[in-house]
Amino acid sequence: MDLNKRANEMNDFFNKVVDIDYDERHLKLIEAKEKIIDFLPKNMEKVIDLGAGTGLQLIKLYKEYPNVHTTAIDISDGMLKKLEERHISDNITIVNKSFFDYDFGNDIDAVISSQALHHFESNDKLTLYKKVYECLKKDGVFVNEDYFAENEETEKQLFEDYYNLVRGEGKHYDTPLTIEHETEILKEVGFSSVETCITDNYKIIIAKK
Ligand SMILES: C[S@@+](CC[C@H](N)C(=O)[O-])C[C@H]1O[C@@H](n2cnc3c(N)ncnc32)[C@H](O)[C@@H]1O
Repeated sequence: MDLNKRANEMNDFFNKVVDIDYDERHLKLIEAKEKIIDFLPKNMEKVIDLGAGTGLQLIKLYKEYPNVHTTAIDISDGMLKKLEERHISDNITIVNKSFFDYDFGNDIDAVISSQALHHFESNDKLTLYKKVYECLKKDGVFVNEDYFAENEETEKQLFEDYYNLVRGEGKHYDTPLTIEHETEILKEVGFSSVETCITDNYKIIIAKK
């Protein structure tokens, strides 16, 4: 997948929807975003948030962990502007870049992501999850709340639709992998345990180093 092209598509789309109804629509999913916090290490100091957007998932995180430092990465300057305007905490560093192009360092306690990773092919995920694995401390955790393809057929179909632009150019295409596929990739990069928490309201993958 051309990751620069994909990043531009994301920037264009989210810069548009943030001024329409992004928060309104995503506040309906707040339970899912807040559930991420239950899987984070109690003594964590440093968090990276992949595709942080307007920061809805960080509101409760900062109520429970006011001293934690978060690096909030997002390609959309419009979404990040809204995050800044929220004034959730002074302990948030905002990075307006693609998470594929940003160096995560090597002293992170938790990497989180909500609804932001269902746009990439498995080889791109392999690259990204390797970076996630490597940046985490020994007992670090990666918690990804997202939506996933129901089965392999759907996964394949969605990528075909995206590449053939079946709904036309300029449309937003989601290309999620299945949970099984995600799990395989996370194990391949070295995570020692990969578990899921699935209810009618959310699907979360918890990968421990
Ligand atoms: C559906 S929003 C989720 C925002 C927020 N995490 C939430 O749950 O409300 C997906 C976000 O991922 C960001 N994103 C997509 N691809 C990205 C990339 N390659 N690098 C950084 N951010 C990206 C988009 O700009 C968008 O803000």
